[in-house]
Amino acid sequence: MVATTTAAVTTAAVSARGVARSFGSVQAVANATLEVQPGTVTALIGPNGCGKTTLMLMLAGLLRPDAGEIRVAGADPRHDAAAVRDAIGWMPDQLGSWDNLTCLQTLTLMGRGFRLSTHEARERGAALLGTVHLAEFADRPTRVLSRGQKQRLSIARALMNDPAVLLMDEPANGLDPRSRVELRTLVRELAAEGKAVLVSSHVLAELDEMVDDAVFMSKGRTLGDEIAAKVADAKTRYRIGTLDDDLLRAVLTEGQIAFDDEPAGMVIRVGSEADAAQALAWLMSKNVPVHRFGPAGSALEQTYMTMEEERR
Ligand SMILES: Nc1ncnc2c1ncn2[C@@H]1O[C@H](COP(=O)(O)OP(=O)(O)OP(=O)(O)O)[C@@H](O)[C@H]1O
Ligand SMILES: [Mg+2]
Repeated sequence: MVATTTAAVTTAAVSARGVARSFGSVQAVANATLEVQPGTVTALIGPNGCGKTTLMLMLAGLLRPDAGEIRVAGADPRHDAAAVRDAIGWMPDQLGSWDNLTCLQTLTLMGRGFRLSTHEARERGAALLGTVHLAEFADRPTRVLSRGQKQRLSIARALMNDPAVLLMDEPANGLDPRSRVELRTLVRELAAEGKAVLVSSHVLAELDEMVDDAVFMSKGRTLGDEIAAKVADAKTRYRIGTLDDDLLRAVLTEGQIAFDDEPAGMVIRVGSEADAAQALAWLMSKNVPVHRFGPAGSALEQTYMTMEEERR
């Protein structure tokens, strides 16, 4: 038992236990505990001011915790800041800009900071500008970039050291729909390469398809198993759209299948995709004119909405 626990701790690329940090009288993070495994994407979700950025800054080794334990790629940011810096890619919620540098100069400088030769740094920078579709901006100053272009440069910058751990604070902010889809694809690819990715975002519907796991935060605390159970429960909700709701109600009632009668359509619970297929076949056999059948929206969003309203 003990051995299993130890293995879980050491294999996590990022782990935080009981982490806390105050600014004067404001307790920004009261008690945060989370783990991110290599090759997975974890979402950090919570209302404005709940402490997401403060927690990420501590994980990135940019802010000292008052209490708690943090390990990033096996290193403790308090004692081995250099190892943590080498292991992580940090994408802040706003790119601190060096306005007069070009995009390629910005990335080259970053690469030099990671001990790449100028040539290597330029090569890698140019390749990453291609990845984030900014190749044509390589020689333009960063100050001319739009907000979304700055976000994309910020992604490239976070990848300059080919980090094992990627911390992204609201990466979808300011991105247009195509760039959001590309971000999603890129994040999945990075996870497939084995990177551990922690991403905070308010765009919950998009996170659904991007993440393997979610950590919810409220008032400086990470929420545990109870909220994970809510996410699992939300994933089992399937909405049925029909041309004849009365018939559907009658058929479900007759079949003794529990359902929620919601304005947007009836919702049933299914244990798995196989169950869903069976339920749909059964509805068809009863001649219910179903025109839509699928998960009842974003599980993360539904779970978020059940959290106590507490923006600050
Ligand atoms: N440097 C600071 N000095 C004083 N208070 C701070 C500082 N940084 C954060 N705080 C406070 O700590 C709390 C948590 O802030 P944080 O930025 O971590 O929240 P967040 O979850 O990232 O919010 P958002 O979703 O708006 O980005 C807030 O009440 C904020 O005002
Ligand atoms: Mg924030």
